[in-house]
Amino acid sequence: RKGGFTHYMLKEIYEQPQSFYETIRAGISERVRKMVMEADEITLVACGTSYHTALIFKYLAESLCSIPVRVEMGSEFKYFTPPLRGLVIAVSQSGETADTIAALKMAKARNCPTLAITNMQGSTVTRIADQTLLMRAGPEISVAATKSYIAQLAALMEIINVRCEGAFDDVLSHAHLAIEDVLLQEIKEAVDLCAKAEHIFFVGRGPFYPVSMEGALKMKEISYVHAEGYAAGELKHGPFALLTSETPVVAICTPCPTYGVMASNIKEMKARRAPIIAIGVFGDTELAEIVDIFIPIPKTHLLVQVLTASVVLQLLAYHTACALQRDVDKPRNLAKSVTVE
Ligand code: M6R
Repeated sequence: RKGGFTHYMLKEIYEQPQSFYETIRAGISERVRKMVMEADEITLVACGTSYHTALIFKYLAESLCSIPVRVEMGSEFKYFTPPLRGLVIAVSQSGETADTIAALKMAKARNCPTLAITNMQGSTVTRIADQTLLMRAGPEISVAATKSYIAQLAALMEIINVRCEGAFDDVLSHAHLAIEDVLLQEIKEAVDLCAKAEHIFFVGRGPFYPVSMEGALKMKEISYVHAEGYAAGELKHGPFALLTSETPVVAICTPCPTYGVMASNIKEMKARRAPIIAIGVFGDTELAEIVDIFIPIPKTHLLVQVLTASVVLQLLAYHTACALQRDVDKPRNLAKSVTVE
């Protein structure tokens, strides 16, 4: 059933080009399209990895189509419900996460239009929300979310595309090819460094900040190495005190408006002796020269960089967990779906 792969997680990582492609190909129904076009503000509620895709959406949607977006953790929302206006979207692979369901019910009670983005047709969120946008990841067995994360991003990027009147049609219909390329990326040196570490920082700016949070979550979840996802500019406001020659920093530094400031953050971290693993684009020799390990991803549109950088981080967590002989598909203390609050 693992189709020749050692773990479901690796199989699911390799299924991501298809997961993204199928979700884009399925498109968005007229009703969901109308709902998205009518929204003058969007609130997303989610937990864990789904919370990270929601945060990525916020950065991208606010900058690319100027719509105000807020993101709330399901577990906080129920007890500290913010004033709500506009469309509320529940993002949940399983559609059964108790905190996300509770938040969605609160939004319904306040008469907000609601949309569920889920991988599970007929799940609880689909029965509560007014409309559903189905991700086409197929069944995900491994506890760690990978192909569902990519399919969530596909669905959320489709929403951005709708708001931008199809401006990203071409980018989205070819993105799976770049995801395919990155699956073959050599990362052994970086894995060796992470497998020896007790603490790892993952840093980025803009949408790469939540991408870093997701990289850190994957690392913690399956390798049990302590990892923190941070906004690169915030490190100097405290965490710099933790940087030593034994604290690797995984930094995402690709061509985007924050490239320059990100590169100077990397130099500051190097000056504190932290070994830097940088994810940058092919051909960026300047960056490659100032870091310890350089992992290249294809030079593509920002939306695609978000996907490919995420896949590299999944592979890094996966191979680190294997090097440490962890139970990758069933990490300790965790369940695939958290159905209690
Ligand atoms: O099914 P959901 O997307 O609602 O699940 C939310 C989280 O429990 C989930 O994303 C969790 O963080 C992942 N298993 C992490 O890989």
